[in-house]
Amino acid sequence: PAPGWTVEADVVVVGSGIAGLTLALRYADLDPGAKVLVVTKDVLSSGSTRWAQGGIAAVLDPRDTPAEHLSDTLVAGVGLCDSEAVRVLVTEGPAALRGLIATGARFDTDDSGELQLTREGGHRRNRIVHAGGDATGAEVQRALVQAVQESAIEVVEHALVLDLLKDAGGRTAGVTLHVMGEGERDGVGAVRARAVVLATGGMGQVYAATTNPVVSTGDGVALALRAGAVVRDLEFVQFHPTVLWLGEDATGQQPLISEAVRGEGAVLIDAEGTRFMAGVHELADLAPRDVVAKAIMRRMRETGADHMYLDARHFGEEKWRTRFPTIHAVCLEHGIDPVTQPVPVAPAAHYASGGVRADLHGRTSVPGLYACGEVACTGVHGANRLASNSLLEGLVFAGRIAEDIHARRHADSPGTAPGEPVADDRPAGLVDPRARSRIQGHMSRGASVLRSQESLTEVARALVSTRWTPVAVEPRTESWEATNLLTVASALVAAARNREETRGSHWREDFPERNDAWWLGHLDVTLTAEGM
Ligand code: SIN
Repeated sequence: PAPGWTVEADVVVVGSGIAGLTLALRYADLDPGAKVLVVTKDVLSSGSTRWAQGGIAAVLDPRDTPAEHLSDTLVAGVGLCDSEAVRVLVTEGPAALRGLIATGARFDTDDSGELQLTREGGHRRNRIVHAGGDATGAEVQRALVQAVQESAIEVVEHALVLDLLKDAGGRTAGVTLHVMGEGERDGVGAVRARAVVLATGGMGQVYAATTNPVVSTGDGVALALRAGAVVRDLEFVQFHPTVLWLGEDATGQQPLISEAVRGEGAVLIDAEGTRFMAGVHELADLAPRDVVAKAIMRRMRETGADHMYLDARHFGEEKWRTRFPTIHAVCLEHGIDPVTQPVPVAPAAHYASGGVRADLHGRTSVPGLYACGEVACTGVHGANRLASNSLLEGLVFAGRIAEDIHARRHADSPGTAPGEPVADDRPAGLVDPRARSRIQGHMSRGASVLRSQESLTEVARALVSTRWTPVAVEPRTESWEATNLLTVASALVAAARNREETRGSHWREDFPERNDAWWLGHLDVTLTAEGM
């Protein structure tokens, strides 16, 4: 749609989690006179960051080294990490974390004031900082929101990003937005800017059951695809092994039971009380999460059960209340007392290891368009992200992107005269919002933890027929979101059909082996005018 209003900015940041807000703050520090605009489709404090429990991985213990953090990350990524990107992540991580502490985030410390460090799956050292026991994301979000509110950064809430604007030379010139109920900027408008940063988070809502909040609908990946940007590794959706099991029909955002619970000694058991991780991996219950999720699925099949259990009764009341207050309260809310009962768990969609391809400075394949955090594929996660590396990625790459945009501030200016941005002209039919639950159902049935050519082909067919709609669709948040969900689901399924092997979080039942001879590479997806 044609924009009804236009505003100018130097940098537009789309999204308000750890990646977006850190980037806006860093850029505002570097260029105090610049206009930095943060747009977010809900309110500033919404998004995935605030739901993070476990913490942020960083080498802070003198016995730990960046080389060990690098090695653990590469092992979890099963051959598909970009080792240079991982090196950047683990070497710059500690300073980025100290920057977050300087911004105001308060992490848990021991009696001598040192940061407490815990473990999660795949880590061979204690290197995960946390806040409020298991409420790390909430504290990070609080600190960043407060810092943004105290700065000159401009924020537009309830603003859903629609499409990238490009100049005649194909360079980023801004974005179009649909702003809902925000006074003079209500309706569809445009922000002209020389740099646009996608920090829109994940796409967990393509599945029926996910740990992601309702806003995680893949908006950034869908925009990038429509803008002709390269998207990579979408088949690697990470399923968190221990999500509170609320029954077969549970849909939407599901409560996470942090890996840190296993890091502190909880174990997985089946209904008979048998521990089934011993012998599966040398780290047993603390194996990387793809290994644990697969072992749970296997045990569920062998025993005909629809969930397994996490047993941490031995923590006792005091430890549950002080170390894991959020999880303890959520369990009680659902009638489970983890002090006296094992907690029912099953895997659910958690994290997109792939996303919009981005280099070491967050640059995508479209000049002037950057991607930061979960929406990006920088290569740090490969086929399976190591626990607690995600908040770290947002922190580290936000700083690098801010520096890159700043360094290019005089070189980069859109070529088209102001007021004449060229919008992408690909066809963009809107999807009926009622399709959302159908898309989620198809994806959960055929493109979930276990996939095969047959199940994926069925999903692909169902997604094609989902596009058809008998009525004109009104342009509003729900229809844009359904459209984005369909776009990213189709791209994900296309990639998953292509990769005929099992690797990391991509488990093909018809190709159960990992195949390094053929598949030690990436699958890039771009959108053509005809579709995927
Ligand atoms: C968790 O606390 O288990 C989640 C951590 C993560 O996803 O990195």
